[in-house]
Amino acid sequence: MCGIVGYIGNRRAYDILIQGLHRLEYRGYDSSGVAMISETGELNIYKSKGKVEALERYAVDKDLGGNIGIAHTRWATHGEPNDINAHPHYSQSGRIALVHNGTIENYSVLKEALIQQGYKFVSQTDTEVAVQLIEYIMTTNNCSLFDAVKEAAKRIVGAYAIAVVDRENPGQIIAARQSSPLVIGVGEGEYFLASDATPIIEYTNKVVYLNDGEIAVINRDEELKVYHINGADQSKIEITELQMSIEQLEKGGYPHFMLKEIFEQPRTLADCISGRITADGKSIVLAGVTDHKERFLNAGRIIIVACGTSWHAALIGKHLFEDFCRIPVAVEYASEFRYSNPVVTDKDVLIALSQSGETADTLAALELAKSKGAFVFGICNVIGSSIPRATHSGCYIHVGPEIGVASTKAFTGQVTVLAMMALLIGQMKGTVDAETLETVANDIRRVPTLIKEIFKLNDKIEDLAKIFTYAHNFLYLGRGYNFPSALEGALKLKEISYIHAEGYPAAEMKHGTIALIDNDMPSVVIAIKDHVYDKTVNNIQQVKARGGKVVAIVTEGDTVVKEMADYVIEVPQISECLTPLLTAIPLQLLAYYIAVNKGRNVDQPRNLAKSVTVE
Ligand code: F6R
Repeated sequence: MCGIVGYIGNRRAYDILIQGLHRLEYRGYDSSGVAMISETGELNIYKSKGKVEALERYAVDKDLGGNIGIAHTRWATHGEPNDINAHPHYSQSGRIALVHNGTIENYSVLKEALIQQGYKFVSQTDTEVAVQLIEYIMTTNNCSLFDAVKEAAKRIVGAYAIAVVDRENPGQIIAARQSSPLVIGVGEGEYFLASDATPIIEYTNKVVYLNDGEIAVINRDEELKVYHINGADQSKIEITELQMSIEQLEKGGYPHFMLKEIFEQPRTLADCISGRITADGKSIVLAGVTDHKERFLNAGRIIIVACGTSWHAALIGKHLFEDFCRIPVAVEYASEFRYSNPVVTDKDVLIALSQSGETADTLAALELAKSKGAFVFGICNVIGSSIPRATHSGCYIHVGPEIGVASTKAFTGQVTVLAMMALLIGQMKGTVDAETLETVANDIRRVPTLIKEIFKLNDKIEDLAKIFTYAHNFLYLGRGYNFPSALEGALKLKEISYIHAEGYPAAEMKHGTIALIDNDMPSVVIAIKDHVYDKTVNNIQQVKARGGKVVAIVTEGDTVVKEMADYVIEVPQISECLTPLLTAIPLQLLAYYIAVNKGRNVDQPRNLAKSVTVE
């Protein structure tokens, strides 16, 4: 959570920092702030509650000079969102400024010790402890900023990515990382720093990903140096070339990133599939799997850990792996798994499923499984993020940057990769026959075109959204492969419209939830032609018998459900295991239009952030 930006070079730092904050705003938007060292040696810090544009309005008549600076956009953990708790935080003498992403778990102990030494705190944040501690070490040990950060890093327990500047040394930024991401962009005579590569890409495609326990010394006009906190030796610096383009980060004419990302899905899925199904449709090519064939063939169990939308994709993965590979699958919330004393053995394969590749709980869950001998495999979107770097092997979903806080194209990318993996492992194990593989693989290739067909219903879904904009509660029902789709549909609606919605297995409803049904409680039922279609039809009857309104997602040409549902949305026929890729689209659009009708901030819903790097 929270986004960090930094710049040192010859341009006006403020412009780069503000632009970078806009790019990282998806990570948190409770407050933002900048700190620059001006040409005259002032350390100017400007902060403001709310979005980056509030900061820009506040800073408009201030001294914005200087070509070194750090900046931050916050998702509040310790202390309410206000100007004082906003970063950057500065040391007691006003000499040092610091931005932080993460949480300092032992901050109250450190704070107490610093108060004993006469330090006064102005904010309620854990972060202020870090900047005061660094100043304390610098003054008591009479050491450099680098040595003080190194020493402070040893005393801090928790997760952090920090960037620090010292007014007395306007040619240097010190940055450090432990369990929170940090990327350094290497330009011509300038350096950029950010929580992910998006603020950097318009200036340079050369980046260095800091690893846990590393400290970067970024000096103006000097080579970048990276050290490990436990030793003086310089780590090997590995420069990576980014493939991302700036166009991928723009809205491209759409009013919201979410809508753009929904409509991008035919292309993003084509990218995700590209080169992974052979031309004859008879084989799947995923080197991350075949390079470790034995681990998959010998797997006694697959455990998938994930959070939120990724967890819903994981539930679909369970059906896929069990159907095609006949391997038992456990799907776990990463946050529960990591604290549950799980039974994990070296026969297990653990899949960490994460769009951002930075979700703290998922990362911790995979580390736990790794420590118990499991083979850990990552399915992520953000290239070079922490999870792919911590796994034994993996596979990217390649759907491009997802900026809207509500996940859309990453979900369909994850399901597509899981489907391809299940087919491949099933083929290796001999649990999927050649004909089934070919049928499903060819259907995977048809998905982008079929999604384009569903987009023709966009206006109809927009009209439907008008009818339901003022409902206070929704039920989403589905079965089998589409029970996770129901959960995902409900989550999409909740998170961007703030309407309460519950996803439920359609048949389980009669064990309690059915009591909620009345004329004011619409049910969105996924009733496509699958092996439980007749059962789902019964469930629709049960809702109708209680006066409930039904919006049904059905297979093209369905006549039975059409008779009983109030509204129907048709999706094309496809292999049952791939139906969630199609049913997701109307559910995403319905949530989007309802949220827009309610005047919600679709791309940045309240209280949320895109990448949850805290517990
Ligand atoms: C919902 C959403 C979240 C994420 C969750 C996991 O639309 O985006 O529920 O799915 O925070 O994030 P990743 O996939 O980055 O690990």
